[in-house]
Amino acid sequence: MKARDFVNLLLRPGGYEVVRTRKRDHRPIFRADGLQTAHNHDFLRDPRFVAARRRAEQADPGVDIPWRLHMALWAASHALRLEGDFVECGVNRGYLTSGILNYLDWNRQGRRFFLFDTFQGLDESQLSEAERAKGRAEQGRARYRECFEEVRANFAEFERVHLVRGSIPATLAGEEAQGIEQVAYLSIDMNNAAPEVAAAEFFWDKLVPGAVVLLDDYAYSGYEEQKAAMDEFAAGKGVSIASLPTGQGLLLKS
Ligand SMILES: C[S@@+](CC[C@H](N)C(=O)[O-])C[C@H]1O[C@@H](n2cnc3c(N)ncnc32)[C@H](O)[C@@H]1O
Repeated sequence: MKARDFVNLLLRPGGYEVVRTRKRDHRPIFRADGLQTAHNHDFLRDPRFVAARRRAEQADPGVDIPWRLHMALWAASHALRLEGDFVECGVNRGYLTSGILNYLDWNRQGRRFFLFDTFQGLDESQLSEAERAKGRAEQGRARYRECFEEVRANFAEFERVHLVRGSIPATLAGEEAQGIEQVAYLSIDMNNAAPEVAAAEFFWDKLVPGAVVLLDDYAYSGYEEQKAAMDEFAAGKGVSIASLPTGQGLLLKS
């Protein structure tokens, strides 16, 4: 038995493990946000990505989820080749969307981006018993606070970005949501299943062929209720969701 395997045998019951941080050929290992891999992650050094990541971090300092941002930038770039608006349900301080707007040079694109959020945390009335039992309400109270004015200031430099304040599903019946006819990019990230399914249902028929749906918590450890709910939703539409090692889920409207 190798020395490392022996050490790991002792460490694992305590939840620890010794890992090689570089492969023998000195390729670096990516390790962040619950993901560890030796696979290529050159995107981290791409100047456009670096600028987008910096802009994302400016919106929400302390958040560092580069591979999830990479996926969002890829999805948004794909959507830019389609007709339709961009939508995010679950925005908080705008980490992902700020990165996208910077990456796509938004003010030159002539597109609209709708951002749905309470901008003051979860709507606890939407939580299921299972989500409550996992402490989702307490997590939400600890993580989120009133941020509407700061978010508005963050996005002020970008044109045609519309903040839609209030709880989903209630805001889906409002004038702004009803005025959205075609969607090319849909990001869903509300940390609880019921409003996520409501958003997916509401926007499904508005998604143009090839539109991309990015589910932030789909495969994320601890968010199993959202995965189960979205799998049921997808099955009802005759599609399936790609489970990504970032914890995200990816769905294409074919
Ligand atoms: C994980 S954060 C979103 C993070 C964001 N995508 C980013 O890039 O940083 C979850 C957000 O969902 C919002 N949210 C949760 N439930 C909601 C609901 N029913 N209606 C509207 N917003 C909701 C919360 O206010 C919170 O800002």
